[in-house]
Amino acid sequence: MSQSTTTMKAVGLKAYLPISDDHSLLDINLPKPIAQGRDLLIQIQAISVNPVDTKVRAPKTKVEENYRVLGWDAVGTVMAVGDDVELFTLGDEVYYAGDITRPGSNSEFQLIDERIVGRKPKSLTNAEAAALPLTGITAAEGLFERLAINDEKSAGKTLLIIGGAGGVGSIAIQLAKQIAGLKIIATASRDESIEWCRSLGADIVVNHKQDFVKEIRDQGIQFVDYIFCLNTTARHWPAMSELIAPQGSICSIVEPEAAIDLNSLKSKSANFVWEFMFTRSMYKTHDMIEQHNILNYIADLVDAKKIKTSLSKTLTPINAENLRKAHAEIETGSTIGKIVLTGWA
Ligand SMILES: NC(=O)c1ccc[n+]([C@@H]2O[C@H](COP(=O)([O-])OP(=O)(O)OC[C@H]3O[C@@H](n4cnc5c(N)ncnc54)[C@H](OP(=O)(O)O)[C@@H]3O)[C@@H](O)[C@H]2O)c1
Repeated sequence: MSQSTTTMKAVGLKAYLPISDDHSLLDINLPKPIAQGRDLLIQIQAISVNPVDTKVRAPKTKVEENYRVLGWDAVGTVMAVGDDVELFTLGDEVYYAGDITRPGSNSEFQLIDERIVGRKPKSLTNAEAAALPLTGITAAEGLFERLAINDEKSAGKTLLIIGGAGGVGSIAIQLAKQIAGLKIIATASRDESIEWCRSLGADIVVNHKQDFVKEIRDQGIQFVDYIFCLNTTARHWPAMSELIAPQGSICSIVEPEAAIDLNSLKSKSANFVWEFMFTRSMYKTHDMIEQHNILNYIADLVDAKKIKTSLSKTLTPINAENLRKAHAEIETGSTIGKIVLTGWA
């Protein structure tokens, strides 16, 4: 179909600067892209910010020739479709995380492969929905695919979630508790993050800044069947090796800040597996449509009131100033739930 080629607002960077620098993220105008193949052209109404944004933006000497647009969480409306699109039509309201190898969602319009897009939950506002895609995909892939948790064989087993109050932990606690029926031990270090984990369904909350192996054992739990590590993998590796049950499984989503010793799992025949939510889009795996299915599954769970949004803060409008504020908060490492930006001024 014909598509206009006018410009659009976006937030981008050329230099990688500290977030305190007003030039670290800039308000810019870019050409509006044109949908081809399986791409949808989305008009974006809300976005969320994740630690991946701050990691990609981290200060370095490299300078981009063309503006780089970050952002991997969006809610919007389908405005145009490529010739091979099968799953969506004009006007559909959608949500998605995206593809780390392509321009991100910090722009008025974005191209996105339909196989990694889902229908927006009908019962949520744009801001509430924008909190969910990246963390929801990560939690669902981590728990149900990498750790192979399923409600038949896993109900009643124990899961330790390290970093329970963050974006991923907020969805992981709910999915594991409400859907898989696991006993959840989450970690949090402050009154408000402890309370957040409990409100989402954690049965036990222990402190990741203290000796949580002892804290868990003091509750009569010697080993846990599954561990989902959402923070500082190397720092928590000795505790994870100690706590994992014989033949148990550990999944981490965070690159270790130092080497980890897999030998520590050998006598227990325990598994270790990575989850990286960009794998499917980065390698165009044959099953990348699973992310479409996961997003629709999460939308169904939300609309059935089985899980809720993890939105904790909304900034308006979407612009460089508000994105710099959101990045600065994420960089503290102590956000609870998700920060979302809505609307274009
Ligand atoms: N592989 C993937 O596909 C993937 C996907 C998403 C995210 N990630 C990565 O996973 C990590 C978590 O993402 P997120 O969005 O959940 O982050 P987030 O929302 O920024 O996490 C914030 C939470 O981390 C907790 N925390 C801080 N220091 C901790 C520590 N030493 N040990 C355990 N928890 C700690 C804090 O709890 P307290 O305030 O209670 O201390 C806070 O609630 C990030 O590194 C992110 O880049 C990877």
